[in-house]
Amino acid sequence: MARSKVFIADLEDNSVVESTFLLAVKSIRETRSGDPYLSMTLQDRTGTIEVRAWDNALVLDKRAEVDDFVAIRGRVSSYRDNLQITLNDLERVDDAGVDLADYMPHSRWSADLLFEELRELIDTSIESAEVRRFLNALLGDENFATRYKQAPAAVTNHHNFLGGLLEHTLSMARLGLQMARHYQTYYPGLVDSDLVVAGVVLHDMGKIEELSYRRSFDYTTEGRLVGHIARGAEIVGQVAGALQPPVDAELVTHLKHLVLSHHGRLEYGSPVTPRTAEAMILHFLDLIDSRMNMCWNACEPLMTGDAQAGGWSDYRRALEGFMFVAPPPTGGRWEHEGRVSRDASRGPGLVPGAPASPSDGLNGGASQADSESGRSSESRARRAEDNNLSLFGE
Ligand SMILES: [Fe+2]
Ligand SMILES: [Fe+2]
Repeated sequence: MARSKVFIADLEDNSVVESTFLLAVKSIRETRSGDPYLSMTLQDRTGTIEVRAWDNALVLDKRAEVDDFVAIRGRVSSYRDNLQITLNDLERVDDAGVDLADYMPHSRWSADLLFEELRELIDTSIESAEVRRFLNALLGDENFATRYKQAPAAVTNHHNFLGGLLEHTLSMARLGLQMARHYQTYYPGLVDSDLVVAGVVLHDMGKIEELSYRRSFDYTTEGRLVGHIARGAEIVGQVAGALQPPVDAELVTHLKHLVLSHHGRLEYGSPVTPRTAEAMILHFLDLIDSRMNMCWNACEPLMTGDAQAGGWSDYRRALEGFMFVAPPPTGGRWEHEGRVSRDASRGPGLVPGAPASPSDGLNGGASQADSESGRSSESRARRAEDNNLSLFGE
């Protein structure tokens, strides 16, 4: 079988595919008539695709295990608005013959850059020395930082790529800071922006242990048995317990509440619902940031490469429907700056010609404003008073 790489995002309906992929999920199932068939999910850096083998299922099943690289031959067809491969042949491929970067989706920005920006945002925007001390103790731990930089934010749905947790967190931190300041202006004294940023940094950190991401993404046993919400609250307790002098107990309770309530509802896995203004903001930040990533995943193929005409996306279960991208007004190409080709957008590190970091050209002013605001030790009430004045000054 051919070992050349064809990417999942480039597969076309009603075509034959011969290529290598990472075997992410595999199981033997039964048809309605009781015959066995092989169900697999294959992965590369551009996405995942479902594969079914109706013939020789038991033989093909034995040829490779999850997390192996496999060369396959099959036919691509459309099933319920998604492409799927009907498998004809499969063989295991030695790890040495493949380039890992082709098979693991990762953030468009380097993890080191994202991490640096997050730490800078913490240093320049958090006024409370106690909150800063707590976050710096956590992020300064090399073991933690290494995994925090690598982890995806989810197995499917949103930010499901290496560095996804960090990309999601930094995006939320920037947005959270703006939102906190906005509501400080409207409702003086109601929102503590330090707690919003801290909540953002901590909210999904349990994912570094909930998910496995050395190869294909999946849940770990601890992830399934404990979950990232409970584990996150536990880590808050561990970090606080190790700090000398001890951190303020009330702050620790607030931080735990932020982590525990961030899914917003009991039926979504939170043992408590948001009971502080900061926790409520955190929950909606999480929601908007995950939804916007899903939206991007659905719409990006309509804005890049040859298919720049806009139109309807394929069906997105998590978004409960199809997404629409309006066609460009003048026909031809999208003329917005910063559009990147699909390949470049998945490339490692910084993308030539694309924003040097997610802040450039988007929200670049925020960090400057942050550093200008300094780290004063004004009381919450005093800050509220200032904000009140700025409301009338605008
Ligand atoms: Fe979460
Ligand atoms: Fe999240």
